[in-house]
Amino acid sequence: MKLMVVGGAGYIGSHTVRQLRAAGHSVVVFDNLSSGHAQALPEGVTLVQADLLDAASVKAALEAHQPDAVVHFAALIEVGESMRAPGRYYRNNVVGSLNLLQSVVETRKIPLVFSSTAAVYGTTDAVPIPEDAPMHPESVYGETKLMTENMIHAFHVAHGLPYIILRYFNVSGAAPGGDIGEAHPNKTHLIELACLTALGQREKMMIFGEDYPTPDGTCIRDYIHVQDLADAHVLAVEALASGRQEAGTYNVGLGHGFSVREVLDAVDAVTGRPLTREIAPRRAGDPPRLVADAHRIVQELGFNPQFTDLKEIVRTAWEWHRSHPHGFDQ
Ligand code: UFG
Repeated sequence: MKLMVVGGAGYIGSHTVRQLRAAGHSVVVFDNLSSGHAQALPEGVTLVQADLLDAASVKAALEAHQPDAVVHFAALIEVGESMRAPGRYYRNNVVGSLNLLQSVVETRKIPLVFSSTAAVYGTTDAVPIPEDAPMHPESVYGETKLMTENMIHAFHVAHGLPYIILRYFNVSGAAPGGDIGEAHPNKTHLIELACLTALGQREKMMIFGEDYPTPDGTCIRDYIHVQDLADAHVLAVEALASGRQEAGTYNVGLGHGFSVREVLDAVDAVTGRPLTREIAPRRAGDPPRLVADAHRIVQELGFNPQFTDLKEIVRTAWEWHRSHPHGFDQ
C-alpha cells in the first residue's frame, strides 16, 4: 500500500514511517517541519513540506500522490502551552484536521488513522480506563483531540470515511539501535528529561508532587514503547484497508502503570548514574493515575507489544540520547 503520513517527521510519526516500510508499504510524508526533523526519515521517503492550514496544498498532495490511506499525527502537543495559547492549538489541531478530513472526502475517501491521547479522558476514577469511559479533557490540548475525534466520527457517518482512532498513553523509548528518537524542541517528558539529566545537561530531576493518593505518593502512568505504538498504526492501517474494520477507537498502552519514582529508579539502573531528585509542587493538570484498559486493541487488532519491561523501554531511550545528546542538531 501507499500511505500518506501527515506529521511523519515527528517522534511517533518517524517511528511509524519506519515500521510501515518494514511491513512493505511505501510512504509519503506531509509535514511542516515545525517540530519534526527531515533527518528522521529513511531514504526513499518523499517529503512534502507543507502545512495542514493550507488546505490547497493538502488537496494537491492527495491528488499528486494518490495514497491508499492516511495516518494523521500532525499536532501541537504540549498541555501547558495549550492553556497559554489556546488559539494556536484550536487553529492548528482542529482547523488543520478539518482541512485534512475535508480534502480526503473530496478527493479519495481513503481510510484515516488518527493520533489521539489519554488526555481526552481527563481525571477519571476508572482504573484501568476503558475506551467508553466518560471524556472530560482538562486541557485545551486534550479538548482539540476530542474535537477532532468527534469530527472524524461525523465524517464517517455522513461520508462513509473509514477510520481508526488510537488513544496513546505515555509514549517513550526509541528505535533499538538509537538512530532516531525523541527530540522535542521543548522537553517535558519524564524519561527524556531523566536521560538528559543523566547526561549532565541538567542538574537534577524534579518530582512534581509526592502527595498523590498512590502507593509512593507520585503519579502513575502507563508507558508504551514508541515502536510498539508504531506497530499499532501498521495494524490499524491494514485492518482498515482489508475492510476488516470500518471504524474503531482503541487505547494503546500496556495496561500497567509505574510511578514517577519507579521510572526514575529504572533510569538510575539503566544508566548507572543515580540522579539527584528534588520534590517540587504538583504540576497543574496532572491526574494521579492514568492506566489503559488495553484489551480491545489486543483482541480486535492483534496488538502484541514487544517492550513490556520498563527497563528495556528506558534502555532504548538512553541509547538514543547518549548517542545524540543534542537530538538531530549535531
Ligand atoms: N514528571 C515529573 N518530573 C518531570 C517531568 C514529569 O515528576 O521532570 C511527572 C509528571 O508530573 C507526570 C509524569 O512524570 O506525573 C509523566 O509526565 P510526562 O510529562 O512524561 O507525561 P504526561 O503524563 O504529562 O503526558 C503524556 C503526554 C501528553 C498526553 C498525556 C496523556 O506527553 O501528550 O500523556 O495522559 F496528553
